[in-house]
Order: sequence, then structure tokens, then C-alpha cells
Amino acid sequence: MVNILVLHGPNLNLLGEREPDVYGRVTLPEIDAAIRKHAAENDMKVRIEQSNHEGALIDTIHENRKWADGMVINPAALTHYSYALRDAISGAAVPAVEVHLSDIHKREDFRKVSVTAPVCIAQICGYGLKSYIMGLQRLKEIISK
Ligand code: DQA
Repeated sequence: MVNILVLHGPNLNLLGEREPDVYGRVTLPEIDAAIRKHAAENDMKVRIEQSNHEGALIDTIHENRKWADGMVINPAALTHYSYALRDAISGAAVPAVEVHLSDIHKREDFRKVSVTAPVCIAQICGYGLKSYIMGLQRLKEIISK
């Protein structure tokens, strides 16, 4: 059994209504249900949190850093500028995969920069809900080695 912390950043609570042309119609509860299903079928225990607040996300990483064997994080807009979140990921010393629903490399220039990706073992983007599942799979492979 591996323990995985899944974090969703700002505005992801509005998925389903928010810019559906970019993010699709999938809602956050639907994403969480898919994550929980995949976890249950693959011997993983998950804790899932969403926050619109940088500090709350950092607190959650701190609180779970001894429990988690890995983290799947969609930092949302914090991806592009939060050195505090980057330091929290790095300081937790737990392997993290950064995920995005959209392909940030094909959008506005400011989204092409990720300050968090360099402290993650991988960045997976552009696959919608599947980005999260691929993140879980990547972690499982790495942790099981
Ligand atoms: C996002 C991409 C970010 O640029 C954006 O700020 C988000 C969502 C994604 O999942 O595609 O809020 O992280």
C-alpha cells in the first residue's frame, strides 16, 4: 500500500463551469471520484485536498509530508509564480508529480513557465482528468522500485 497526497490549487473547485472550452465539463468531484477509484484498484491510499489559498496548500504539504509516499499536485496558477509552494514541495522530500488538465505549453506565454516542475519528478499536462491518473501511475512505478 502506498500513500498519496493529491492537491488541487486555486479555482479548480470551479471545474465544470470554469472556461469549459479550456478545461472541459468535468467537475472536481468527478475527478476526485476517478482518483479514488484508481487508487482503490491499485493498492493506493489517497488524501485529496483543494484550496484557493497558497498557505493552506503549503500547510497541507507540511502536515502530510511524513504520511505521504508521493504527491500529485495541480498547483493551478501557482505553478507559474509560487516559489513558496515550490519550496514546500522541495522541503517535503516526497516525490511529486505536477499535473495539469490543459497543455500549459500550448497556451499563453506566462503559463509555459513552471516554477514548481523543477522540484517534481515529472510534469504531465494536456490529458484532462487522465493527467491525474497518469500522475498516480508514474508515482506507483517510482515508489515500487
Ligand atoms: C491548470 C493550468 C494553469 O495555468 C491554470 O492557472 C489553472 C489550471 C490546468 O490544470 O490546466 O488553473 O493548472
